Order: sequence, then C-alpha cells, then structure tokens
Amino acid sequence: MRPADLIERKRNGEELPADGLAEFVLAYARDEVPDYQMAAWCMAVYFKGLTAAETFTLTDAMIRSGETLNLGAALGRKVVDKHSTGGVGDKTSIAVGPIVAACGVPLGKMSGRGLGHTGGTLDKLESIPGFRVELTTEEMIAQLRDVGMAIVGQSANLVPADKKLYALRDVTATVDIVPLIASSIMSKKLAAGADAIVLDVKVGDGAFMKTIDDARVLAEEMLELGRRAGKEVTCLLTDMDQPLGRAVGNALEIREARDTLRGEGPADFTELVLDACAHLLAYSDLGIDVEEGRRRAERAVADGTAFATYERWIRAQGGDPSPRALPDAAVRRPVSAPRDGIVTRVGALAVGVAALELGAGRRTKADAIDHAVGVLCFAKRGDAVLAGDDLAEVHARDEASAAAAAEAVLAAYSIADEAPAPHSIVLEVIS
Ligand code: URA
Repeated sequence: MRPADLIERKRNGEELPADGLAEFVLAYARDEVPDYQMAAWCMAVYFKGLTAAETFTLTDAMIRSGETLNLGAALGRKVVDKHSTGGVGDKTSIAVGPIVAACGVPLGKMSGRGLGHTGGTLDKLESIPGFRVELTTEEMIAQLRDVGMAIVGQSANLVPADKKLYALRDVTATVDIVPLIASSIMSKKLAAGADAIVLDVKVGDGAFMKTIDDARVLAEEMLELGRRAGKEVTCLLTDMDQPLGRAVGNALEIREARDTLRGEGPADFTELVLDACAHLLAYSDLGIDVEEGRRRAERAVADGTAFATYERWIRAQGGDPSPRALPDAAVRRPVSAPRDGIVTRVGALAVGVAALELGAGRRTKADAIDHAVGVLCFAKRGDAVLAGDDLAEVHARDEASAAAAAEAVLAAYSIADEAPAPHSIVLEVIS
C-alpha cells in the first residue's frame, strides 16, 4: 500500500481495494502515515465520495484500530445506544439516559466534547461540580448494574483512528463529508458494543447537514453500515434550524435537562427526548413497541422515577445533582423584541456561535470552557411577542462580552406579521 497511490486513485474517482484502504487507515492510526497524506485523501473523498463497500471498509478498519467493548456480554442484556450528529442546545442524552434506565433498560454511553459551535455532552456534564467522566470499563459496568446508566468519555483505546482523523478533519475543512461522518459515528457505536442504535440526525442551519435531502443521505449511509454489521438502527431526522429547547451553554443546559426530567422542560426538547426514549425502549429486550415505549417514558417522568434515576446517576459519578451546585454567570443581559409580531426564525448557528464567543465552547482543543455562560432563548419560532418582551437572555462573565453576544442573538431573531408554517421537532423517522 502506497498512500500516494491511494490518494491519486481516489482523486481520479476509482474504488479502492479493501485491503489497501484498511491498511492505510490502520497505518495512519499507528502514526506511520503522515497527517498531510490523510488530509489529502479526505479532500479527495470530499470531491469523489466513497462507495458503500469503501465506507464499510473504512468503518471496520477504524474499529480494528483499537479495543472494543462488549457491554451486552458483561450485562447479559441487549444493549441499546443513541447518538446525535451534533447541534446547538443538544442535551438530549442527559435527559434520555435516566428515563430509559428508569424504565428498566441500561444505557451506557460514550460521549464526546464540543468543538466549533456545537456543544459536547461531556462538557455539559463537567459543569456539575465533582462529576467524573473518566470511568474504567469495570466502573462503568458496575454503575450500569447498580444505577442503570453511565455517560463517560471515549476511552483512548476505543477507535483511536477516529480520534486522530476527526481532529485532522476539523482543521482541514473535511468534517462535513457524509461517508466520513457516517463511519466516524458508526465506528464508535459498533466498537462500544451496541446491538441497536437510535441516531438523531440533525437538519438545518445549526447542523452539519443543512437540508433534509442531505440528512436522508447521511441516515441511509449509517443504516447501511448498521445492516452490514448486523445491528438494528433507526434514524430520527430532527430540526436544527433553531436551538433545541431554550438553553445553550453547559450549566444552563444541565438545568434544562433536569427540569425536563421533572416534566417542566420546553415543548420541543421534551418531545424529542420522549420520542428517542420510545424508539430505544422498543429496541430493548422489554419486548414492547414504540407506542408502549412512549407511554412508559411519559410515565417515568410523571411518577418521578426518571428524576430519581438522574440524581442517583449524577451522585454515582461523583457529582452534586442540586441546581444550586451549578455555576452562575456574573452578568445577565436581556435581549428585547424590537417590535410586535411572531418569531419566524431563531438562527441556531448564530446562537451557537454567540455562546461559543461567550466562552461556552472551544475554538481550539486546548481552550478552557466557562461552564456558566450561554444563552437562554425564551421565544422560539411561532411564538407571538410584543415590543420590549424578553426574546432571550445572555449569561456572560462580563459586560463587554454580554453586549456583543446580545447583539448577535438579536440578529439571530426574525419577527414578522405572519406565523411560519408549524412543524414538529422530529421531521422524519427512517429505519
Ligand atoms: N460526530 C462524530 O462523531 N463524527 C463526525 O464526523 C461528525 C459528528
């Protein structure tokens, strides 16, 4: 295998032989192929794509670059998992896990950190004082037996090729390439031993996939990888034209996930959480369908068992589940409606970037995060507002950054006389 040959053949639109492609990926993981050659190959993939067979070979090689887990064998249960392609205000796993666990289905999940304008579940959880994201596999399994859920960082040995490749793609404009996203996500889910996977494919302004057609293509590629690996997969295509729920920013999002588990969450976020739970429960070994899964998820929220599971989970990982333990920003600045009307747009990308600029995210991997800062979007698409009403509230560390963020958030809003066409948070379900 000569990397330069593989790059040239991909640049010319050829299908690569499975053994050469697999060796290229494994050699890259062993630091035997330099970043510049892998970057050139990724850019060739951007222009020429990968066939289904190549995407499977890439995914399989990424899995083989490190260790794999078999949570199912350790627990003696069928293991379900979920993953989101990334969005603004996306704290779904933090609410889904306790509900599913309260319904009797263990959910052990490896999550990532945010980069760019999309937040990461681990960063959100680390706004809880004391919370440990680094558990050993033994600790994770013990916690799954005891509490029914765990969310941990991806161990260094699980899919190391993806860790390296994702960091390279992030700085070489090669993140938003469908087969590379599909193999990145599916390699991690398959290496973690999931039998059935619910994928939340975000669509819109704040997502990698800007249109429903692109999201469908990504969903189909992930379904195909799942089929080839003998796993059950469902994709929920969900709206990311506006931030999910109200809260964008780490501690703010933890508060919102907590409220949602008490039945007091925003409508769009609650709907997505319950839908994801319904599909996960239908895939579990409980032997129920999606409708019954939805009923059980709703019951776990209503009867308090989901919230009790949340508190046990946070304590089990060393954190303090009380909202008083979460950090508060020094400055709060309202963003007022400039006119009467109906909100027709809350640009997810602009709100995500405003939160990033406040310090809620990282510009580079080395940046530290300010867990307290962020944005609360009180008014969402379709809401009627009067001039002077609070559309949103910026939480900042100082007045200067609050003023800049407030301006950016105001620019993210459009207000008109006519209401936009209503649509639900889950746009389509593909399985
Ligand atoms: N999330 C991932 O895990 N990988 C990608 O490539 C994109 C989103």
